[in-house]
Amino acid sequence: MALYSEKVMDHFRNPRNVGEIPDADGIGEVGNARCGDIMKIYLKIENDVIVDVKFNTFGCGSAIASSSMATELIKGKPLSQALELTNKAVAEALDGLPAHKMHCSVLAEEAIRAAIKDYYDKNGIEYDKSQFPEHDEDEEIHE
Ligand code: FES
Repeated sequence: MALYSEKVMDHFRNPRNVGEIPDADGIGEVGNARCGDIMKIYLKIENDVIVDVKFNTFGCGSAIASSSMATELIKGKPLSQALELTNKAVAEALDGLPAHKMHCSVLAEEAIRAAIKDYYDKNGIEYDKSQFPEHDEDEEIHE
């Protein structure tokens, strides 16, 4: 069996929503200390809806595929829905990732959260802090 699904290969080879949004409303940058990979997500938000999203990922193929899929999953969605996106859902949408690559999808979940938090902070919007836990990246892998 191939290690990576067709969808992973497709999103790795033809990543969607790559780039930057110069006047982004929220920017989230996260990294994985172990592998050194970095993911940055830009959000354009109108009336609590993500009207545009772009990403830049300096990382492995699974991280690039995860970012690409995650941006597709949250584009056009309300912030409340984007906040519910888990790395597991990203991996499932990619028809799975190998177990040792699940942490790559965690970066996508965290980068989106960080970008939404940045938007809330910049605009003085109140939010439930428990939605944005500070955590150890190794603990948040939902397989
Ligand atoms: Fe670092 Fe995939 S190996 S994010």
